[in-house]
Amino acid sequence: MKDSNCLHFKYLPMGVRTLYTGALIVLGTGYLFAMVYIFESHAGRDGDPMLSVRDLIIAYSGSKADTRLETALKGPMAGMLPAEERNVIIAWVRAGASEDEYKSKILPLVQQRCATCHGGSNPHIPTLTEFSQMNKMTQMDHGMDVFTLVRVSHIHLFGITFIFFIVGSIFCHAYVRPLWLKCIILITPFFAILADIFSWYLTKIFEGFAWVVMISGAFMGLAFAIMILTSLYQIWLYKIPKELQDCGGVVS
Ligand code: HEC
Repeated sequence: MKDSNCLHFKYLPMGVRTLYTGALIVLGTGYLFAMVYIFESHAGRDGDPMLSVRDLIIAYSGSKADTRLETALKGPMAGMLPAEERNVIIAWVRAGASEDEYKSKILPLVQQRCATCHGGSNPHIPTLTEFSQMNKMTQMDHGMDVFTLVRVSHIHLFGITFIFFIVGSIFCHAYVRPLWLKCIILITPFFAILADIFSWYLTKIFEGFAWVVMISGAFMGLAFAIMILTSLYQIWLYKIPKELQDCGGVVS
């Protein structure tokens, strides 16, 4: 039976192949940017510039040993001030983060080094020139709070499902044997995103789940790359094998 949904790329109209090519290239580029973003926002939290499982543990469950201020000063904010000034701030936190000392010692530092961004002009980051907000940063670091995770989860689940559905629908026109392999490549990202997102929460309870976050992210990227590259290759460069010609280009 000839079902036009299941025809190989080479049997599709030129317009459709062009449309698929555009979508694959832009979604693939989007994925690269997403990876740069993940790297930028997570790497280096543990003091080492590479992205590690320890970084993920700190992001999701907190470093436990440090306050949010210290985690930030060791990670993304490390370059904002010289080491000796950082030590002054850390010593203040360790000594109990009192308001008096904040006013005499810390505020002048913050005014000089941090106030351009943390002076209250940006509502999305804490105003460190106010003791009440600085005080929140000197509490123990418990990682991303559950509400933030819920917000990011639903955005990811909806957004990523669309992306993988589009890329998967295109990849369905590729000729891949054995068939079970094709099905595994198609379904992997959907399982991986679920494993990834549930592991964000589970990392709060048991740190080992940070590994699942890392590994599921790798599988998602791998499946995505295979689908995009195979599709682009088969749209333009592929030579149709004989068994595919014989059945009129129908791929299952
Ligand atoms: C160039 C702008 C800039 C400067 C200067 C800057 N920060 Fe930040 N800071 C940010 C941004 C943007 C974020 C939020 C994004 C992030 O967490 O990476 C942030 C986040 C933080 C956080 C984490 C808040 C949280 O929710 O856990 C802390 C703490 C912090 N900064 C402290 C400082 C301190 C202390 C200084 C001065 C030594 C400083 N920052 C200087 C831009 C800046």
